[in-house]
Amino acid sequence: MSHAFIVTKEHRRFTEFANAVRKDKTIGICHGPAGVGKTNSARRYANWDILEPYIDEWGPRGDHDAKHYALANRSRTVFYTPEVLCRPKDLMSDIDHWQMKVGICADEHLRSLSTDAASSRQNDVKRLIELLIIDEAERLTPSALELLRDQHDRTHLAIILIGMPGIDERFRHYPQLFSRLGFSHQYRTLGREELLFVLDRHWKRLGKVLDLDDFTDAQAVAAIERITRGNFRLLERLFPQITRVLKINQLDTITDDVVEAAASILVIGN
Ligand SMILES: Nc1ncnc2c1ncn2[C@@H]1O[C@H](COP(=O)(O)OP(=O)(O)O)[C@@H](O)[C@H]1O
Ligand SMILES: [Mg+2]
Repeated sequence: MSHAFIVTKEHRRFTEFANAVRKDKTIGICHGPAGVGKTNSARRYANWDILEPYIDEWGPRGDHDAKHYALANRSRTVFYTPEVLCRPKDLMSDIDHWQMKVGICADEHLRSLSTDAASSRQNDVKRLIELLIIDEAERLTPSALELLRDQHDRTHLAIILIGMPGIDERFRHYPQLFSRLGFSHQYRTLGREELLFVLDRHWKRLGKVLDLDDFTDAQAVAAIERITRGNFRLLERLFPQITRVLKINQLDTITDDVVEAAASILVIGN
């Protein structure tokens, strides 16, 4: 999605949760329904939209390196999405790879700060990584969970597992892991106020001003609330359709009818 990230209350709550897990060097679970913004929040926290392509490329060093090194040093976080049916060993070596790469970047930054010209690379740059975030954690097999738990025990790496509602219940079946869980965090849908905040931005993007005292606007907002139930993904998918409906019908105002029409396209286009 090309849309700008919106710092919502839920994102701020996620940040606090992640900081707490990291500070306590513990394991935390973040769970919530699909489409509420879990992945976006976690990637944002890890600065992953910037670091991932940079590390993936890993080309000849250039002018923009210092910026990335500083960023890696600030976040010291690895974000990882396991593949479906991933093999535990591959998972661990992938994670190792990312820890190493982010660690090297952070280390480069630290060395650039050091006045001691002879300062050499830390023996284990991976140690610089303070937090590992694993998205789609329901894909992890019991052996993968066991390997992660083992790494946590050995290195005290803080870990966040992100998944759907009920994932915390599933982890109850793994006492070894469950006994190490420090925090469980529920990622919620947008509240009414936040929904209005996001809608206000969408209205502005379309060159309009949202006015809740205006009956038509209030009706349209009520329809959007009912259809999306504060789900970020639905909301983001609805707006391009609203724009389309307005354009096709040469309309200028977002009414509840326009919203309904947009929603019906959305279902068909599913
Ligand atoms: N903070 C945000 N700012 C802007 N758009 C967001 C934000 N969070 C989520 N979205 C939108 O909602 C969609 C779903 O978010 P995502 O993080 O993938 O949800 P989840 O991981 O909970 O299923 C994203 O593709 C994006 O369009
Ligand atoms: Mg997700």
